[in-house]
Amino acid sequence: MNHLKVAIGSDHGGFRYKESIIDYLKIRDIEYIDVGTYTPESCDYPEIARKVAELVTSGKVDRGILVCGTGIGMSIAANKVHGIRAALCSDTYSARVSRAHNNANILCLGERVIGEHLALDITDIWLKTGFEGGRHKRRVDIIE
Ligand code: RB5
Repeated sequence: MNHLKVAIGSDHGGFRYKESIIDYLKIRDIEYIDVGTYTPESCDYPEIARKVAELVTSGKVDRGILVCGTGIGMSIAANKVHGIRAALCSDTYSARVSRAHNNANILCLGERVIGEHLALDITDIWLKTGFEGGRHKRRVDIIE
């Protein structure tokens, strides 16, 4: 998984978890681009979601991670970008299946919803799981 390149971003509501996930990426030698926010000051999550989404669709990174208070705003905004399949996950099963079945290319997390260690476990599983293809590819192709 450390051949993956990841873009990561958050608003103020997800800032603390973004920093923890970056520590996780560093420990595992996973290359990343941090699009911000860089301080806990209030900011607008759609701007951050667009930056990460465009890095993914341009192919500059393989996958994206977005954190806000609930993960909902980030997922709504990211999914407006054509080619993005952003999955808001609050459990490890959904994280695994969002990759295996939906080929999710952005993971969204809610800092005010789940604990930090669960967020890190979800991230770990999501980054490690591959797309199964087959019948799932047909369905993803229908979305596109
Ligand atoms: C910010 O207060 C909050 O609205 C944001 O982080 C996110 O939860 C939006 O969906």
